[in-house]
Amino acid sequence: MNNARFSRIGFILAAAGSAVGLGNIWKFPYITGENGGGAFVLIYLMTIVFIGLSLFLAEVVIGRLSREDSVTAFETLAPKNGKLWKYSGWMVVNGVIILSFYLVVIGWIFKYIYISATTLPQNVENSSAAFGGMVTTDITNQLILFTIAFIITALIVSKGIKKGIEKANIILMPMLIVILIALLYYSTTLDGFSKAIEFLFVPDFSKVHSSSILAAVGHAFFTLSLGMGTIMTYSASLPKKTNLVRASAIVALLDTIIALIAGVVIFAIIFNFGAEPAQGPGLVFISLPAILHDMGFIGNIIGVAFFVALAFAGITSAVSILEPTVMAVINRFNTSRMKALIVLGLITYILGAMALLSNIEGIKEYVTFFGTGTFDILDFLSASILLPLGGMLVAIFVGFIIKKEVIYMLLKPYMNDTVFKIWYFSIRFITPLGVMIVMINKVFF
Ligand code: PHE
Repeated sequence: MNNARFSRIGFILAAAGSAVGLGNIWKFPYITGENGGGAFVLIYLMTIVFIGLSLFLAEVVIGRLSREDSVTAFETLAPKNGKLWKYSGWMVVNGVIILSFYLVVIGWIFKYIYISATTLPQNVENSSAAFGGMVTTDITNQLILFTIAFIITALIVSKGIKKGIEKANIILMPMLIVILIALLYYSTTLDGFSKAIEFLFVPDFSKVHSSSILAAVGHAFFTLSLGMGTIMTYSASLPKKTNLVRASAIVALLDTIIALIAGVVIFAIIFNFGAEPAQGPGLVFISLPAILHDMGFIGNIIGVAFFVALAFAGITSAVSILEPTVMAVINRFNTSRMKALIVLGLITYILGAMALLSNIEGIKEYVTFFGTGTFDILDFLSASILLPLGGMLVAIFVGFIIKKEVIYMLLKPYMNDTVFKIWYFSIRFITPLGVMIVMINKVFF
C-alpha cells in the first residue's frame, strides 16, 4: 500500500480541489439558471447537507478504516463475501469515463483563456457561432488543447499523492480562491449584483418542478466527487489524527461556498446587461464572453481571471478522477505507478479523442452508437448511472455491511451520539432511497 500521507491541510485542499471543479463554476450556475434560482438553490443546499455530506463521510470512513485502494477496501472490510464486494471497489473505473470528456471541456477552457486575452466575441450571436464552430469543426485546436490538459493531469498524478497531488492543490487552490474573491468583490460594484443575490437567495417555489429536485440530488454528489471512489481513495492517505467529521464538513462547505460565489459573479454580470439566466450549458462559454466584450478592457481582464480559475478548478478535479483508478491498478495488479498510468492514460486518451470527434460534423456518424454521440453517451453513462450506483453501494456497504461498532468507534471522538444516530439513519435509508429515485428517474424518464 502507499506510504505517502497527506498533511492535514493537504488532505483538505486536495479533497476540496477534487470537489471544486467544472461542476461548481460551469454547471452549478447554469442549472440554477435553468431551474429558476433561489428555490433550486435551497433544495440543492438541503441535499448537500442530508445526502451529500453523509455520503461523503461514508466514503471517508471506508478509506480511513482500510487505508487501501477502493477494491482492496471493499474486499477487506466486508466481514464475509469480500471476494464479491471487491467488485464494488471497481467503481473507480468510472473515473476513466468521466475524465475522458472532462479533459475535453478543460481544453475548451484553455481556448477561452486565449479568447479572453485577445478578442472577445461582439455579441451573443457571434459568441454562439464561435463556440459552436469550435465544438463542431475545429479538430486540431481541440485535440491539441485536450492533449495539453491530459499531459498536465497525468504529470501531476505520476508524482503521487504527496509530491504530485498535494503539491498541485496547495498551489492552485489558494490561487483559485483569491481569483474568485477578487471577482466577487468586483461583482459587488455592478448594478446587477443585488439582482443576482435576489435571484439566488430569495426562493420562489412556483419556479421549481420535480425535475429540479432530481437535478439537485444528482448534482450534489457530482459536485462532492462522490460515487466513484475519489474521496475514499484520498481518505486512505489521511494523517492519523484528523478530525474526520470536521474535515468532511469543511470540504462540503468550501465546495458550496465556491459554487455560490461563482453563481453570484456570473449572474451579477448577466443581470447587469439584462441577459437571461436560463441559458443552459452555454452560459459561461457563450453568454459570458459576449457580455465581457461590452465591458471593454476590464472585460478581458475579468475573462482571463475567470477562465484561469475555471482551468485550475478543472485540473485539480481531473487529477482526483484519475488517481483512484491508478491506485487500484497499482495495488491489484502489483505494478508500478508509471505502468498503471500509461495503460489507463491510453484508454482515457482514446475515449476522450472519440468524445471530441463525436461532436465534429462529418465525423460524428462514425463515433455514434445507437444514434448518440460518444460524448453524450459517456456523460450520461457516468453521471446518471455509474455515479449514483457507486453512491448507493457505498451507502449500503457502510450502512449494512461494515459492523456498526467499528464505525462508531472510529467516529466517536468526532461526533456525539445523537449526531451519529442521525448520520447512521441517513446513510442506511435516506441516502440509498434518494439516490435510487434519481437513478430510476434519469434512466427511465
Ligand atoms: N466534483 C467535481 C466537479 O464538481 C467532479 C468530480 C466527480 C471529481 C467525481 C471527482 C469525482 O467538477
